[in-house]
Amino acid sequence: MSKQRILSGVQPTGNLHLGNYLGAIRNWVEAQSEYDNFFCVVDLHAITVPHNPATLAQDTYTIAALYLACGIDLQYSTIFVQSHVCAHSELAWLLNCITPLNWLERMIQFKEKALKQGENVSVGLLDYPVLMAADILLYDADKVPVGEDQKQHLELTRDLVIRFNDKFGSKDKPILKMPEPLIRKEGARVMSLTDGTNKMSKSDPNELSRINLLDTPDQIAKKIKRCKTDPIKGLSFDDKDRPECNNLLTLYSILAGKSKAEVAVECQKFGWGQFKPLLTETTIESLKPIQAKYHELMADPSYLNSVLKQGQEKAESVANQTLSRVKNALGYLTIN
Ligand code: AMP
Ligand code: TRP
Repeated sequence: MSKQRILSGVQPTGNLHLGNYLGAIRNWVEAQSEYDNFFCVVDLHAITVPHNPATLAQDTYTIAALYLACGIDLQYSTIFVQSHVCAHSELAWLLNCITPLNWLERMIQFKEKALKQGENVSVGLLDYPVLMAADILLYDADKVPVGEDQKQHLELTRDLVIRFNDKFGSKDKPILKMPEPLIRKEGARVMSLTDGTNKMSKSDPNELSRINLLDTPDQIAKKIKRCKTDPIKGLSFDDKDRPECNNLLTLYSILAGKSKAEVAVECQKFGWGQFKPLLTETTIESLKPIQAKYHELMADPSYLNSVLKQGQEKAESVANQTLSRVKNALGYLTIN
């Protein structure tokens, strides 16, 4: 039996942080040998909010290199850039025409981001989830590993599949494949270091709120030293009134590769003064090999180019077939 297909992506907007790593990429790496994987750098999504043309290309390289540095293995996985495969934009358009406007208007991420943009909300920002659906559906993905925040977008994708197949397919011949979200419990929602009730995010103006995968040991130490805690001695996972405590213990548990139960026992009598150096050391050590590999990759652009070129070819060969299937179902004229 052939392997199930996975597709996921990250936007090339700024640096990747621990939320991206623990919520998404680490899970891609762990499961990759069981699946046929496609991982894209979603640069078309990156311009749904105002972006800097001077850094987009470099940021795209950075994310691709970080995929490899985090352990994505080309034996099992294809890495490519979204804008290099035209079918993404084209399928997004076709899906747009069957997507009810009010499905998009109620997306939480749209509402949150639109609030931050004020008057400047683009049609692209509203349309973001349709482009994401196109990314997923072009590859007939069975599973989509993401963080908790993307769950609603996955539900919209699934609704679009039902709608499209109902209108243009037949029961025994669905045109689009139904994908499932793959959301791991641990790390699905890494919270900000400066506010344990907000998720860690690339767009938080406060740099101290997140640890980036490429932060130096000094930066990591400074951020953990300054991070928000509480005055209570003894650390535990389960106190609802201590969101920061839960978040920092969870980070430690995942990065140290220890179970929650082990960490709960180890840290139950700790004060913050004892815990913070431990978390700092663990974070620095777990990011070290990723950073070393990243710098090695960035020193050899020709290798990265060849990875992305091969990725483009492989992705195109799959995506174009799906696009033809969809266009046929919609009744488009074809000439040979
Ligand atoms: P983005 O940075 O928005 O392109 O997100 C890329 C991936 O990281 C998606 O799968 C998100 O669900 C995941 N992600 C982003 N922020 C977090 C967070 N704070 N905790 C867990 N996962 C996250
Ligand atoms: N919207 C996702 C995020 O911000 C990124 C993304 C775009 C994505 N297309 C995708 C994730 C397809 C999974 C599958 O995290």
